[in-house]
Parts: sequence; C-alpha cells; structure tokens
Amino acid sequence: MSPKKLKPQYLGVIRREKRKSPPRVQPRFNISRPGMVLLKGFVKPEDQIGMVSMCRQPGPGGFYEPSFKNGAKLNLWMMSLGKNWDPALRSYGPTRLFDGAQAPTIPDAFKMIAQTANSTASEFPQINPDVCIVNYYTNSGKLGLHQDKDESKSSLAKGLPFISISIGDTAEFLFGDTRDKDQATKINLESGDVLILGGESRLLFHGVSHVKTNTAPSWLKEEMSIRPGRVNLTFRQY
Ligand code: SIN
Ligand code: MN
Repeated sequence: MSPKKLKPQYLGVIRREKRKSPPRVQPRFNISRPGMVLLKGFVKPEDQIGMVSMCRQPGPGGFYEPSFKNGAKLNLWMMSLGKNWDPALRSYGPTRLFDGAQAPTIPDAFKMIAQTANSTASEFPQINPDVCIVNYYTNSGKLGLHQDKDESKSSLAKGLPFISISIGDTAEFLFGDTRDKDQATKINLESGDVLILGGESRLLFHGVSHVKTNTAPSWLKEEMSIRPGRVNLTFRQY
C-alpha cells in the first residue's frame, strides 16, 4: 500500500528486519475459544506504517473525543469510516451529529488487509466491510468491557466476524462472558496483531484495560513520534 511514499529510512529498516528474521510461518492462536482467532504479527511493517499515516491525514470526519449518553468520555479518540457509529445513540448513520461530517470512505488498501486476514482464518465467513471504526489510545487510554452489538440484526444473527487490527503500543486486552473485569481473560495485543471475533464469540465482552507506554516496534516509533500510543481498527459488515 502506498498512501504516500515511504521515507527511505523506513525501507532500510524493513529490509534489515527481513534479512534478520527467519522465514515467517504465520503464527496463529485460537485462544481455545470457538469463534476467536488471533493472528500474531499478521500486518506487514510497511502496511502498519501506511495505515497510521493515512489515519493521520486531517480532514472532515477525523478523530474526535466521543462520549456516552450519560456524558462520560470514552477515554480514547475515534473516527468512523464507511458509516458513522455514534456511541451515545448506539447506532450507525451516514453523518455524525456534532459537526455534520460524512464518514470518510474506507481506503481499499485497508479493506484488502482486513479481508486477507479474514480469509486466512478460514473458519469464518468472508465479510465485505462497510464500517471501520478507528480508535486512537494515548498511553492513558482505555475502553471498558462491552459487546459490539449495534450492527444489523442479520449480521449479528449470522455471527459475521469483525476484524480488529492493532498498531503501535501494546494493549492489555480483556475478554470474557460477562462485564466483570475480574473474571476476564487478559492477553497482549501487539503491533500488527489481528484479532477476529465471530460465530459463538461475536458478542463476547471485550475491552482494553491499558496501553503499555513505549512498547511500539522501533521502526514504527518515528511515524508515531508526534503522538505515541495505539491505533486499533475494527472492520465490520453492518
Ligand atoms: C473496540 O472494542 O472497539 C476496540 C478494541 C481494541 O481497541 O482492541
Ligand atoms: Mn468493541
């Protein structure tokens, strides 16, 4: 993907990384739970850099600090691509209420990466993503345990998966059968990891307890240097 030309120093780093690392066998973890697949380090470094740089491009519909219905902040920055998701109304629409901005389209390059991950985890049906919610967490960012259940009835009934891509600093990610964080399982989501939740796990409770400062890969740090933290993109079919 080439939203802008990669700076030569990145290409050098990526080539060096490739020379150092043994041939990649795609690591994959099922986390012993039907409907949940974690593809470790799935997104290539150049694609991670490309995704971050595209998310940075300012324009209408860009990042804002959303609130719930009760006025409480979500502790992250968000933008919606494809359709706008409103966390206060818990619904999707073409524009967002507070500034009237239309949701920007999902870049084809983003869709391609999500769909490649989707087909790699072949137990899931293939989705055609029409929504991508991008969250940006600073190092004090977090997200309480919740279910993703605002998509269409048919999408949820079919258990169509959503595909979650993590870039930047590592998150401690929680998941479980209830909203109780003490009973939740904790895993690390690192830069390049793809988590897919579908089928029986489509309505799993999940959240981010914290983001670990200064844990992004060194080759990504320069791209993230102005705003260190974590970017998460979830792709869904409404
Ligand atoms: C979300 O549940 O919307 C995002 C989860 C994450 O940031 O990993
Ligand atoms: Mn969610």
